[in-house]
Amino acid sequence: MIHLLKASLAEDCQQAAQQLAKGQLLVLPTETVYGLAADADNPKAVENIFQAKGRPLGHPLIVHLAEQKTDQNWKKVIDHYVQEIPAIAWPLIHRWWPGPLTLIFKRRPQVADQAAGHLPTIGLRSPSNLTAQKVLHWAYALGVMGVAAPSANRFGRISATGIDHAQQAFQEISHAYDFYMLDDGPCQVGIESTILDISGDEPVLLRPGMITRDQIEALLKRPVALAHEHSPKVSGTLASHYAPQAQVVLLSTQELIARLHQFDFSQKSIAIYAQSEIDLPSIAIKNGSIKELHKHLKMPKQAADCAHELFGVLHELDAHLTKEIWIERPSFLDASWEGVLDRLQRAAANR
Ligand code: TXA
Ligand code: MG
Repeated sequence: MIHLLKASLAEDCQQAAQQLAKGQLLVLPTETVYGLAADADNPKAVENIFQAKGRPLGHPLIVHLAEQKTDQNWKKVIDHYVQEIPAIAWPLIHRWWPGPLTLIFKRRPQVADQAAGHLPTIGLRSPSNLTAQKVLHWAYALGVMGVAAPSANRFGRISATGIDHAQQAFQEISHAYDFYMLDDGPCQVGIESTILDISGDEPVLLRPGMITRDQIEALLKRPVALAHEHSPKVSGTLASHYAPQAQVVLLSTQELIARLHQFDFSQKSIAIYAQSEIDLPSIAIKNGSIKELHKHLKMPKQAADCAHELFGVLHELDAHLTKEIWIERPSFLDASWEGVLDRLQRAAANR
């Protein structure tokens, strides 16, 4: 069953924390995307995450921690999961925790084995969303050291950036599990956290996000490698992750315009998501459209604005049963776009 809770109600947040402590599943708001959360140290609860999501067992989950005010206290919560905190972790923690940065550490053997997908490493982050922090702190007081949470979507689908997305995703299996869902409105960032592996000799970027490789390199004053074939399996790095039902095509401005002018609009419904000014209704009517089925959504000029709305746009177009989504590759690409571009490429990858 789905139990809806409201972030604006203190007693609902408290209940969310209590349910975590009891080993239940909670859809938890974070600043990036909603997570499907459970006590990271409770193997049965973690197993329920994998089953409800339909996620293969070898794919590790990120463990979420309550913010700590001193290094000493950070050390206490991190030490529970981590064998040894490398020196490189501290500037990253000071700058971006709480925030949309996941750090991969060498894991303490036997701890949170299921959550870590039995890998020798573990991913930790502290979300900056205030509701998430409230729940994490209350859960901590009830004995929950960390909360494992993948994005609150079924495996391979688009992440949830609103509670309605999570409800839709888990509706069909809500007879089998209790889902507590804490509604805190739309997620501020909108794409998943940047993942940086600091478990080896050199830092490796496993997943781009709104905290960019440039920013990390500038802080650490050393190069950050990109994930390569030997990096551990990250499900978000499978080519066709974040896929909506509709087919997504990523096009340059010229390709998009050419395609539109050649397209027979009586055939099927399409949507475009583009920064350029395009008079879609005129082109569609000229090329055979009989109904107003075609949608033009304007892509924001700022990467942060685009990230914020991207998954919502894809969810909305899917709900309209759009058959194809043609996306104009954003122009003026600076480093701030790397996370968005990564999600666009994966949405467009062959399935
Ligand atoms: O923003 C986020 O990170 C969101 C919110 C809910 O916190 N969570 C999220 O979780 O995106 P998920 O499971 O959808 O993606 C987590 C990614 C996966 O691709 C997983 O493989 C990778 O993190 N990951 C987790 N632990 C890892 C580890 N020990 N080594 C390598 N990759 C790891
Ligand atoms: Mg995910």
